[in-house]
Amino acid sequence: MSGMKHLTGLKNLTRSDIEYILRVARDLENDLAAKRSSKILQDCVLATLFYEPSTRTRLSFESAMVRLGGSVISVADAQKTSSAWKGETLPDTIRTVENYADIIALRHFQVGAAETAAQYSRVPILNAGDGSNEHPTQTLLDLLTILKERGTLDGLKIALVGDLKHTRSTNSLTLGLSNFNVDFTFVSPPDFTTSQWILDILKTKGVPYTQTGDLTEAVRDADVVYVSRIQKERLESPEDYDKIAGSYVLNRSVLENASKIVTVMHHLPRVGELAEDVDSYPGAAYFRQTYNGMVVRAALLAIFLDRVPEQYR
Ligand code: NCD
Repeated sequence: MSGMKHLTGLKNLTRSDIEYILRVARDLENDLAAKRSSKILQDCVLATLFYEPSTRTRLSFESAMVRLGGSVISVADAQKTSSAWKGETLPDTIRTVENYADIIALRHFQVGAAETAAQYSRVPILNAGDGSNEHPTQTLLDLLTILKERGTLDGLKIALVGDLKHTRSTNSLTLGLSNFNVDFTFVSPPDFTTSQWILDILKTKGVPYTQTGDLTEAVRDADVVYVSRIQKERLESPEDYDKIAGSYVLNRSVLENASKIVTVMHHLPRVGELAEDVDSYPGAAYFRQTYNGMVVRAALLAIFLDRVPEQYR
């Protein structure tokens, strides 16, 4: 991790970087529960600068900052309520906000926005999602969830389900898990398959994967099933949405075909692709994921603000 100033994507993280972040997260989680470390970010200010809607990502960042004794300034709808509406460029906005905050969590609709922001920013940029590209903080909370639920990140069969073409969470999760000993099954409608650049990285690293449209078959041997929402707002035409909406739904009857209790995950929000009858399934981990989001973002704030307590370094 040493020398890394910004978190723009999983592309740039090694296995040991990931393990370090998850270790700090678990240490801080104990402290957060015991209310012991609440002051480590005292005097620090986080700016959440969001050009796209969010519930979990923004609020968990803000909650983590406040719980660790820091403060938050926020633009929740930057496209409409910041000077972006008047035509200000992202570099100019970043060169302004860096004067008001010690760290910036940025969500933007353009692929590469976090990289651009990082080129201009004196303060750390944490990518909270850039278009259909990457969502690294989501992945770190997903990895923490898998680690807690399954006890390991190695030796797992992972099924990723849904709109794998446009979903940034599954892009980053695939890149993150490719540092571990995993076997992927990608389940998606034909026009919504995993992007070639992700598959190229898997091939280069020799990570095994298969692509299918058969959800029931993919669930049968899986340890983890990660369901994603069709990214309606990123489709070229609404007809594309109608074509696939409802084409895959994970419900209890699909899970009955599994050979074991599967860990069921979803980045949320869900809009029909993950049935509510799964909520009472023992492996349903998606609301625990939302809690882990706060924990991981607390760790990322501490790491990138260089405030990790000595004993956790
Ligand atoms: C996702 C996002 O915005 O990328 N949500 C999230 O951060 N948990 C996924 C989505 O909107 O479907």
